[in-house]
Amino acid sequence: MVALSPSRYVDLLPTEVRDALNKVIKTLEGLFEGMWIPTTLLNAAYHYIRNRGKLIRPTLALLVAYILSDGSSLDKSVLPAASVELIHIASLLQDDIMDEQRIRRGVETPYSLFGAHTAMLASDLIIAKAVELAIRSGDNDIVFELLNSSIKLAVGQSLEMELRGRGYVTMDDYLRLIYYKTASLIESSMIVGAYSVNVKDERTICNIRDIGRFVGLAFQIRDDLIDYLNIDSKNPASVDDEINIVKILYKGSGDINASISTARKLLNEMLDNAINIIRNTMNNDILINYINLLRI
Ligand code: IPE
Ligand code: IPE
Ligand code: MG
Ligand code: MG
Ligand code: MG
Repeated sequence: MVALSPSRYVDLLPTEVRDALNKVIKTLEGLFEGMWIPTTLLNAAYHYIRNRGKLIRPTLALLVAYILSDGSSLDKSVLPAASVELIHIASLLQDDIMDEQRIRRGVETPYSLFGAHTAMLASDLIIAKAVELAIRSGDNDIVFELLNSSIKLAVGQSLEMELRGRGYVTMDDYLRLIYYKTASLIESSMIVGAYSVNVKDERTICNIRDIGRFVGLAFQIRDDLIDYLNIDSKNPASVDDEINIVKILYKGSGDINASISTARKLLNEMLDNAINIIRNTMNNDILINYINLLRI
């Protein structure tokens, strides 16, 4: 039921985007070269670089850059795209600790392998490098965008802890939470993609923010559905996961099948919203097809 995974779409990306994505991977693989770091900490910091994920955020950054750049080189977009992936990796290292997650991407997590302390320090290293790469991109707007997004991720994770202690969570609470913990970084990925090719006019940026926010909200609803249904064997659901759209809807309706289909409907509506804005602005089928892969 998990439709096409976005990772399978890599082959269908334009060559320029694929080449730039390979440069992102190379940049990440050489991240701590020449530095003396104790082996355990280094292994924890490299863990999610060596065990790659779907790379959705850098792909979105590069796709936006590609669409807006009119065929010019994507080289300037590589560092921002790598920085975005690093912020995501840092959030995974922290999220594993918070959710006591032992398996992610089909392998044991750094939290489980090395303990919470080492995983926490590894996330520090990764964030420092994310900031370094953003600064090396030479554009302060990119740096500020990504710093703001990092703050929002922490706010989102903290909001989730608060909501866990509450008896009743409204849909407004939930949407605010998933904007902060997930959608904000997807929005910023697309924004830094635009910035990296010097597109900064207010109208375009505003549209890209809206597209990114809708894709990001859809993305977390999709993740919640996949977690709830436990249909991703590489990412088994964590034990204590009360803050999930399906469970929140179920508390209100008492009907599990209706809750699942409402969640799925909301996910598809969010994607429709993103795609409508794309059609009315950039009107690019490659981006639309990529986003459509998130439907379940
Ligand atoms: C997982 O993100 C965490 C969420 C914000 C839902 P991804 O599904 O993008 O994780 P990877 O990077 O592909 O493993
Ligand atoms: C994702 O929340 C938020 C992050 C910032 C990592 P989840 O806790 O649902 O993510 P997964 O399911 O562990 O990837
Ligand atoms: Mg979590
Ligand atoms: Mg988690
Ligand atoms: Mg999840």
